Amino acid sequence: MSESYLTTPIYYINAKPHIGHAYTTMLTDAIARSRRLMGEKVFFLTGTDEHGQKVERAAQKANISTPTFADQVSATFRQMCRDLKISNDDFIRTTEPRHHAAAQEIWRRVERAGDIYKGEYEGWYCTVDEIFVPEAQLVDGKCPTCGSKVERLKEESYYFRLSKYTQPLLDFYRDHPDFVQPEFRLNEVRTFVEAGLQDLSISRTSFKWGIPVPGDPKHVMYVWFDALTNYLTALGFGSGDPAAEERIARLWPTVTHFIGKEIVRQHALYWPAFLMSAGLPPPRRIVAHGFWLMGGAKMSKSLGNVARYQDYVEVFGLDALRYFVMREMPLGQDANFSDEIILTRFNADLANDLGNLVSRAITMIHRYREGRVPSCPDEGRDALDRDLVAATESTIASVKESFRAIQVSQALQETWALVRHVNKFIVERAPWVLAKDPANDALLDRTLYHAADALRIIAALVDPVMPDAAERIRRMLNINAPEPWSSLAAGTLAAGTQLNPVEALFPRIEKTIEELRGMTTSNDSTPAPAPASTAAAPASAAPTPAPAPAPPAESTDSRISIDDFMKVELRVAKVLEAEAVPKSKKLVKLRVDVGTEHRTIVAGIAEAYAPDQLIGRTIVIVANLKPAKLMGIESNGMVLAASPEGGLPNLVAVDPSLPAGSRVR
Ligand code: MSP
Repeated sequence: MSESYLTTPIYYINAKPHIGHAYTTMLTDAIARSRRLMGEKVFFLTGTDEHGQKVERAAQKANISTPTFADQVSATFRQMCRDLKISNDDFIRTTEPRHHAAAQEIWRRVERAGDIYKGEYEGWYCTVDEIFVPEAQLVDGKCPTCGSKVERLKEESYYFRLSKYTQPLLDFYRDHPDFVQPEFRLNEVRTFVEAGLQDLSISRTSFKWGIPVPGDPKHVMYVWFDALTNYLTALGFGSGDPAAEERIARLWPTVTHFIGKEIVRQHALYWPAFLMSAGLPPPRRIVAHGFWLMGGAKMSKSLGNVARYQDYVEVFGLDALRYFVMREMPLGQDANFSDEIILTRFNADLANDLGNLVSRAITMIHRYREGRVPSCPDEGRDALDRDLVAATESTIASVKESFRAIQVSQALQETWALVRHVNKFIVERAPWVLAKDPANDALLDRTLYHAADALRIIAALVDPVMPDAAERIRRMLNINAPEPWSSLAAGTLAAGTQLNPVEALFPRIEKTIEELRGMTTSNDSTPAPAPASTAAAPASAAPTPAPAPAPPAESTDSRISIDDFMKVELRVAKVLEAEAVPKSKKLVKLRVDVGTEHRTIVAGIAEAYAPDQLIGRTIVIVANLKPAKLMGIESNGMVLAASPEGGLPNLVAVDPSLPAGSRVR
């Protein structure tokens, strides 16, 4: 039996999980499940990256000890795995003793190879991304990756001789052109390496929350040196256990790391270099996906524009969330996360296409054949039958291929082409007409058989992405266990099978987008700190900013035209009344004069302003926002406020003498 080892990044614990983390974990899970269905043995690892100054500071801010803080936040990622039905085999925490042993062992090996020396680091450091930023790469004095403030560091540090690996890395990339998927990401790394590598600072002395450097505990390891090693820890590296040696030899050469595109350099450059130095082979493959965007910017805790996976599981169900993210993001490209797109996909793809197929196929067998799958002799088959069987067979082959190629969106598109084909087949055959005349019995049998048989195949093919839906379809078809993909073929549904009652798989959601927004309002929707590129962030509690038009693949230019900007009607308003929203820490209900009328706006500014501090203020609002319900109150607009990183919102002020209703542009 072939085997493979799949990993997600281990997630930082300075923030709770959001859709971005959930996505990589669900994607890796879908691939793991597909491989198991294809008969492979899979070892699937995820976990949390818990060291570093950022975590130490977050714990201080929360006023709890760092280990307690780490336990609490790490538990939310473990919970995410349960909530999302992730089939991981291990969950690693970098604070575990097994990981300390592994990281120290790899350090020693690298040291023995003569690749570590002591020096002094002086330069800029971004604690958000935990990276050193060369002066020339700063953008307006800030981190080029996340836009956060960088800090000047000057301290004694151990260095890794990364420069020594310039040529070995280039040779490795040349010999392994499929090392990074998509391929263009490898080209980016190659270009970077070709420009020449500088040695890398791999220890810090200015904080303690890390793994001590062997033999010099005043230093802790650079978090990436520590974190990357997790992939070996989970196989038992550094444990001294002889069984671990065998496990590493077996699994390490098969490893695929699934990551977001922002950490390709660490995985495709630092990591192979550390491994080469330690005498171990580089990973087999790195798969780098794009970003989920919200309102045109990368969804991230530091920008404050995150969506909680829990809200979407609650409203749409887990399978629908898993389907949406896999379908909407082709590998390597960015995609927009918005309530509108999820709702549309839910109703079109899940309720209409798949839901209808399930209910039609199962209901008709109950209605016309007392719930027993009819037999389907070969004779009498016509072009319509043959086309459907051929489409089913070719879909099985192409979906397998797409999963192998980690093209899950494509696999789903192929599966949905089959779903639509079966729906069309049913409409063309019109079993409800055939059933009226017993002379059509054989044709009706064939029609019902093929529909149910294709549905069985569809259930098997959606299983890696929607395990619950697959199981429910199987239950209706009275099939006990998932079918292995190796023997999956059209025409093997047993005639005579007694079906179970039909269940509604994905009942249509008849809510408006505003009603949904109210439902997905996250408890965590702290007003967004202003990203480096925007002047002010909305203080409305609506979790999902209106979606930006889908950017072209890989577009990094999120600028808008003046026409786009002018669509947003910003106006001066006067606060007439203000009251706290019961049971909400963050929301305040305002009655404001906008010049032409008085309206109610619910704003997420209660932690920064008491209601009486607000009455009489002159503020700026987005006046043409569609209404949204927040805690049961209809909000007609959004208050603008700026939020310093990690701080409270500060209302955007204009000269109080301006009349209400003045346009701001
Ligand atoms: N701790 C490091 C990884 C160390 S791996 C040895 C880290 N952690 S993180 O918490 O910042 O998680 C980053 C990963 O989360 C991304 O690489 C990606 O997998 C996922 N995502 C976080 N935000 C995302 C989006 N907005 N969109 C898609 N994935 C995102 O980096």
